[in-house]
Amino acid sequence: MPARANRTLLDAAFQRWAGLSPDGNAAAGIIAAFGPPPSRYSMTDASILFSPTTLGDIALANRVVMAPRAIEGCVPTPLAIEYYRQRASAGLIIAEATQINPLGQGYLNTPGIYSQAQVAGWKAVTDAVHAAGGKIALQLWHVGRISHVSLLPAGEVPVAPSAIGANAQTFTANGMEQVSEPRALRLEEIPQLIADYRTAARNAIGAGFDGVEVHAANGYLIDQFLRDGSNHRTDEYGGSIENRTRLLAEVVGAVAEEIGAGRTGVRLSPVTPANDAHDSNPQPLFERAVERLEAIGGLAFVHVIEGATGGPRDEIPFDYAALKARFSGGWVVNNGYDKAMAVAALSEGRADAVAFGRPFIANPDLVTRLRLDAPLAGFNPDTLYGGGAEGYIDYPPLELSTAG
Ligand SMILES: Cc1cc2nc3c(=O)[nH]c(=O)nc-3n(C[C@H](O)[C@H](O)[C@H](O)COP(=O)(O)O)c2cc1C
Repeated sequence: MPARANRTLLDAAFQRWAGLSPDGNAAAGIIAAFGPPPSRYSMTDASILFSPTTLGDIALANRVVMAPRAIEGCVPTPLAIEYYRQRASAGLIIAEATQINPLGQGYLNTPGIYSQAQVAGWKAVTDAVHAAGGKIALQLWHVGRISHVSLLPAGEVPVAPSAIGANAQTFTANGMEQVSEPRALRLEEIPQLIADYRTAARNAIGAGFDGVEVHAANGYLIDQFLRDGSNHRTDEYGGSIENRTRLLAEVVGAVAEEIGAGRTGVRLSPVTPANDAHDSNPQPLFERAVERLEAIGGLAFVHVIEGATGGPRDEIPFDYAALKARFSGGWVVNNGYDKAMAVAALSEGRADAVAFGRPFIANPDLVTRLRLDAPLAGFNPDTLYGGGAEGYIDYPPLELSTAG
């Protein structure tokens, strides 16, 4: 476990990344960034947020999705079991980013889904969520160039589409460090990479997950292939939009073939600058990406982060409706949503479900609080990471926080 002193650095970095207000109050941060919620939707409209729906083969009791949140802990621990169990009233939990293989790790002590011990650890989590009546999908992750040699098997360096270092930091045993220089993945390594996604998806279903979300967002490996800022390849995985969207299509196609398209979702973040992600022309790139996802046929959902992850929603103009128009499966939106924004997105047909990230950290019963219009608790940024119970499983539900 990192020392508390190191966590201060991490917290500071996280707050910069997430665009939180200085006191870490998510609601205050969201309101400061996006203004107060629109008032023209009556409370009766709000029932749409709590109505059931399906995303592919996954039936949701409501449309409040829990967005993935990385936590510290290699194999899911008893604390993780409790953390996810407490949040089982979400229509769907998307569990934290989880690496598909050892080279896919980019932060200290993040979990994987490639060993039997990891599968067994996750099985305890999915059992607990299912026993509490919830649904849970696993986010399949490969960080690509957002890693550090100290986190990788001996002698390995991070892999990326091209040997271009990111202007980004990661959390290692020594605290925050600049990510290491990557090497370009060789063309002949790509089939094994895709096979590792396939195996990870099979393992996730073996661990009892209701589905998976392929992490193609936030400047990690698949996003690095998508964007021309990080992909300078000259083979069939680089250059044209058709070539840069190839890895995404092949990975998602393989996962869908392995576990069923109706259990396969994908996360995209067309304009986020997270982890030094940038592209010269994201609109046609992501339109083509979604067309290729549609061509796979029957995918459960696309989950789009609108704007800068955890930050401004509309600093970079982007036509999200043009993406949605290209996809016939479930459409999940995220980033800075509150109840009124979520209800508006659902009522206006801009989404089938809304994912909440930071609000779920301190509000295990977020669905109940949204239903009752109860106040949301803010989280303590000093206890976001660290591996202990504090700031992880000790946020009380409404009845306890208001009792006495
Ligand atoms: C502590 C923390 C950890 C996160 N970990 C992940 C992750 O593992 N995978 C991912 O795709 N996004 C991750 N995110 C981003 C959230 O899923 C979400 O996109 C972001 O918080 C914006 O949504 P919000 O405004 O509802 O919080 C994380 C965010 C936070 C605050």
